[in-house]
Amino acid sequence: FHILLLNGPNLNLLGTREPDKYGHDTLSGIVDDLTSQASALNVKLSHLQSNAEHVLIDRIHEAKGNVDYIIINPAAFTHTSVALRDALLAVDIPFIEVHITNVHARESFRHHSWLSDIAAGVICGLGVDGYSWALQTAVKRLSKSN
Ligand code: DQA
Repeated sequence: FHILLLNGPNLNLLGTREPDKYGHDTLSGIVDDLTSQASALNVKLSHLQSNAEHVLIDRIHEAKGNVDYIIINPAAFTHTSVALRDALLAVDIPFIEVHITNVHARESFRHHSWLSDIAAGVICGLGVDGYSWALQTAVKRLSKSN
């Protein structure tokens, strides 16, 4: 199986960005960890982080036909992007939405997501562990459906 991990704007700054909220782990550390977890589970993991909406959208388009599951932390685009929602609907690849923080315990503008109702599930508030839980569930579901 091929799983695509997508991270949205400002997540390249993990480690130094508001560490009280997002912790001290860097994105490259998180991706390295997840890549070893994926290989232990015998799945391929690809990763893209972008601060640009269209780059994430183009990557979702490219995923059609070769990616089995998407794990996405859309970051601020969660709360703004109908375009990201439409891209995910267009390719029809199941996805899990991940947030490091508990968005429901933060400002009210973070309570709405344009993606949650079309996601297989949403993980938020579990810190960077959320990515691992998402990977485990994605692999479990793919193994069951094949
Ligand atoms: C985030 C939560 C978003 O509200 C915020 O804009 C982010 C990160 C999270 O992982 O907790 O950039 O998606």
